[in-house]
Amino acid sequence: MLSRLSLLKNSGKTLGRFYSSKTTQPNYNEIYQKHKLISEKKFDSAEIMAGIRNNTLFSWNPSEVAANKALIMEQGDGVYFYDTNGKKYIDFNSQAMCSNLGHTVPEEVLKAVDQQLRTAAYAYPCSIVTPVKAKLSMLLADLLPGDLNYFYYTSGGAESNETAMRMARLFTGRHKILARYRSYHGATLGAMTLTGDPRRWNSEPGASGVVHFMDPYPLSFKWGENEEEITKASLQYLREVISYEGGKNIAAIFIESVTGTNGILRPPKGYLEGLRKICDENGILMVCDEVMNGFGRTGEMFGFQNSDGVIPDIVTMAKGINGAFLPLGAVACRDHIAQHFKKNPIGIGSTYNSHPVTLASAYASLQYMLKNNVLGNVKAMEPVLKECLADLQKRHPTVKGFRAMGLFGTVELQKNSKGDPFIPYNGPPHPAITQLQEEFVKSGIYTLFRWSSFFTNPPLIINEKELRTTFATIDKLLLNLDKHFEK
Ligand SMILES: Cc1ncc(COP(=O)(O)O)c(C=O)c1O
Repeated sequence: MLSRLSLLKNSGKTLGRFYSSKTTQPNYNEIYQKHKLISEKKFDSAEIMAGIRNNTLFSWNPSEVAANKALIMEQGDGVYFYDTNGKKYIDFNSQAMCSNLGHTVPEEVLKAVDQQLRTAAYAYPCSIVTPVKAKLSMLLADLLPGDLNYFYYTSGGAESNETAMRMARLFTGRHKILARYRSYHGATLGAMTLTGDPRRWNSEPGASGVVHFMDPYPLSFKWGENEEEITKASLQYLREVISYEGGKNIAAIFIESVTGTNGILRPPKGYLEGLRKICDENGILMVCDEVMNGFGRTGEMFGFQNSDGVIPDIVTMAKGINGAFLPLGAVACRDHIAQHFKKNPIGIGSTYNSHPVTLASAYASLQYMLKNNVLGNVKAMEPVLKECLADLQKRHPTVKGFRAMGLFGTVELQKNSKGDPFIPYNGPPHPAITQLQEEFVKSGIYTLFRWSSFFTNPPLIINEKELRTTFATIDKLLLNLDKHFEK
């Protein structure tokens, strides 16, 4: 038997420790004994980071860079979380804009998940259904407007968009899909190809048939001086793109109904209505990616509901569907599309589609949202968020502007009175922004920075005091950034 000490020291991959050669069997009992001790031990931050550095890879960023910046979450509590040393952070981005119900799992959700695990933990979705699948689908049909009555479940946002692409192509018999440049739709091959921002580049050439078009709010020019002009010109341009691509070749147009990580951009007045019309005229399906803004983030249950009466043909969802407590996504479609797939195969499937435990978490989370009027809280907090953001802009020359709706906000920073960003689009780090980021962390504020902007997207359960206190801290931190402002 190995000593306790030597077992614990022995973290990470240990060829030659458990394996005498690559071909012999490891000593499974020794591995078990080691992990029995490890699992009972409270790791300090050095031990956690050793395990992370030695045995994991991070998403997006080089893993060394990400590991150097990573915070440790040991315990969540409401809109806060704590690291191993007991340092408290307010979550001002709801992690990936997804921990909408905060970090304390409601009792009802815990109970529902526990009960589902104890009764029917897994069912093969191709041939077995569960009561919770029926109930959640009925609830979603009640929540979504129009005849968006049918649901297909996935394990997350990218897979939902992947599914929607497949459905649109099979339903229309067409291949091309239009998506916008200022967008993010996920990291699987199809969803990555839909994505317009630079996260797409590492996946290129990507899937075939996707054509990108410009947004109503491009980065470096304007379609017009007011919303009406912007809508008119950007839709006229879209019509031209469609005529070059051939309307009869296009299966779907994908949009984030409120653009998320690419800038919290509400479509200009009349844009979604115009897009709906263009889709109808050409037999193109309108697909709204509600992965980030669905379930209350923008102040409406779904982002497209900020526009009057527009019903998309397909809606993709994830994140807020269950406050990201478990991996879950969904695709909603209108009745006529569902009728097609009652007679024809949908052409997609996966082991974890309709996983009953994730569905139970969503059913209980959505009931919690309704019972506690979480959407009402978003509507009540929206003016507070906007007031705090406007105050930052008034007080700090480095704050160029902000955009916000619901509890979805972003602050754009500038380094001079010409309005130049500290970091151009997709540009290298700027020391003043790096310092600001570090000061956010030191001050116990977790949020996401994207080049020259940062997000203010707290859990939808945040209260006024928590919002104002956080903005008071941000206000102090921006005083330091202001020292870098060049008049
Ligand atoms: C609008 C949008 N669509 C799709 C996705 C991808 O979702 P997931 O990360 O669950 O695959 C995201 C993720 O941030 C998103 O913001």
